[in-house]
Parts: sequence; structure tokens; C-alpha cells
Amino acid sequence: MTDIQELLLSRIRDVADYPEPGVMFKDITPLLADPDAFTSLTGALAGIAADTGATKIVGLEARGFILGAPVAVHAGLGFIPVRKAGKLPGATLRQAYDLEYGSAEIEVHAEDLTSGDRILVVDDVLATGGTAEAAIRLIHRAGAEVAGVAVLMELAFLGGRGRLEPALAGAPLEALLTI
Ligand code: PRP
Ligand code: MG
Repeated sequence: MTDIQELLLSRIRDVADYPEPGVMFKDITPLLADPDAFTSLTGALAGIAADTGATKIVGLEARGFILGAPVAVHAGLGFIPVRKAGKLPGATLRQAYDLEYGSAEIEVHAEDLTSGDRILVVDDVLATGGTAEAAIRLIHRAGAEVAGVAVLMELAFLGGRGRLEPALAGAPLEALLTI
């Protein structure tokens, strides 16, 4: 494990039985509150943006906003919010998805994504992969390309990587930590 990985892991708090019994929640708020850890995290994700040739960052509401916006600034790229349904005022594309705990729909402003874009999707956690898969579908439906998906942590035991592979079509899934 690298020094950065050790730092990031040390700032993630395990919360047992949240939001429901039997679930171990990975709380990133201690990491966000630590400037060294937060800067290391956003710098590492911005490096992935550069490596993948991304032209824009998509962040997934809500925790993907906290990470994706500073990554976009760090990388010198624009930021596009993918929001939970009903929050965007303009013409949107909408995609249903299954969450680890329930189901929901996400939306993006269609005009924010164009056919010349290569999008890096940023989020905190890849669990079942349902959220990221829906985001990839939205990006493809808008006619843009997916440069990759970058997350702070992948919960490998939930199998999200396998679920995403067909949608990724060869684009990389980068996880700074695999748990
Ligand atoms: C959480 C997490 C990821 C997603 C991962 O979001 O932040 O976005 O679940 O799960 P999946 O891979 O099974 O789809 P959630 O919508 O629960 O909460 P948030 O609004 O705090 O980001
Ligand atoms: Mg989320």
C-alpha cells in the first residue's frame, strides 16, 4: 500500500449498522476534514483525469459532488452535476438505477454533454455499481464518450466492477482503495 493509500484509509471511518442493520458504512467526513488527505485525494483523482484524457468531470450527487468539483478545478476541466431526479431546471436525460439500499433516478442537463466530450465519472464509492452504470448510460445517451470512472473506494465484495464492465466498453475503472 502506498503512503497516499495509507493516509486515505486512515481517514475513513467504519460505522456499523448504518443506514441499516448489517451494513458497514464507510464515512469519508474525517477525510474531507483533513486538508492533507483531501488534497491528496483530489490530486490523485485529477491525475486520473489527465491520464485518461478526460475533457470534463461528471460528479454524482451527493458525495460525488464533494470530490468531483475540486477534481475538475485541479485538472482545469469543467464540472457537470448528475443529480437525483427533479433538481435540474432545464431539459434533462433521466435514468433509473438500483441503489445498495433502494432505487432512484438520476438526471443530467442534456446540453452539458456533447459528442466531442470525454467524460471522467467521479464518485466516492463503487458498491453494486448501479449508480455509476446509470451515469455511464446517461453519458452515452447524450452522445459523449466515457473516459473512465474514478472512485475513492471500491467495495469489491459487492461486485460493482463486473457489473460496470459491459457499460465501460474498455474504459478504465480506477479505485484508489479496494476494500
Ligand atoms: C452512495 C455512494 C455512491 C453509491 C454507490 O450514494 O455515494 O454514489 O451509493 O452505490 P452503488 O455502487 O451500489 O450504486 P447515495 O446515493 O447512497 O448517497 P449520497 O447522496 O450521499 O452520495
Ligand atoms: Mg453517492
